[in-house]
Amino acid sequence: MLPDDLAVHLRAARFGGQAAPFDVRWLPSATSTMDEASRLAHEGAPHGVVVVADEQTSGRGRRGTIWASPPGAGLYFSFIARPSLPELSLLTLTAGVAVREGIAAATGLAVDLKWPNDLIIGRRKLAGILAEGIAIGSRDQVVIIGVGVNVQPAAYPPEVAARATSLEGELTRAIDRGLLLSRILIALWDRLAMLDQRPGDILQAWRAASPNASGTRVEWDGKHGTTAGIDDRGALLVRTDAGVERIIAGELNWHLGT
Ligand code: BTN
Repeated sequence: MLPDDLAVHLRAARFGGQAAPFDVRWLPSATSTMDEASRLAHEGAPHGVVVVADEQTSGRGRRGTIWASPPGAGLYFSFIARPSLPELSLLTLTAGVAVREGIAAATGLAVDLKWPNDLIIGRRKLAGILAEGIAIGSRDQVVIIGVGVNVQPAAYPPEVAARATSLEGELTRAIDRGLLLSRILIALWDRLAMLDQRPGDILQAWRAASPNASGTRVEWDGKHGTTAGIDDRGALLVRTDAGVERIIAGELNWHLGT
């Protein structure tokens, strides 16, 4: 059963007079909500099933990193998406736009997006998105969209704390995780529905929220250059001495301002 702080706002979330279309499953603890959502997806769970955990014992980030997930200190959830698209390249950018909008709606805080799927304030990371695909390219394709948002500042290990920020740390007030979850899910539902018909709107929203996607120095694989926006398939463009490179994946070192 959902704890009260989550249930109240989810109950209140209405879609044109209907109850919210997503189906939220809460766990006091999970290895990773990705594991649980993947298990449910293999069992046939439909689009919009969401697994949220109070803590994760093996929370994971992109590229094999650990996502510190102490009890109650963050929002940790995975959304089962069954996109109809053959083209999935904009899915994580779409999730980033939605998480940003949900955070703004719940807290009033404006955060920046950093390609491909970090949410940052200044140089510090507030939230991250991990997308894992199942049976991609088949009619049964599923993308599990994992979202982690740092809510409380204190509980993270020192190596994370130095590079991270949190909602309560930024706002110096308590954050209602249920309100936050419901606002993010509403935005995610709406934006995923839009992706099919109006991908240009998603790209426009992403570009507007990512000042660092243009004119920021980056390094990767021994190369360096200056960001020059994203293209219509969501790849990052980087201007180098040898011309413009199109980056679709990989780790970059960003020289962000304050
Ligand atoms: C990243 O920025 O590296 C992505 C972080 C994603 C973390 C979330 S927390 C909920 C879900 N479960 C996980 O194990 N990871 C994602």
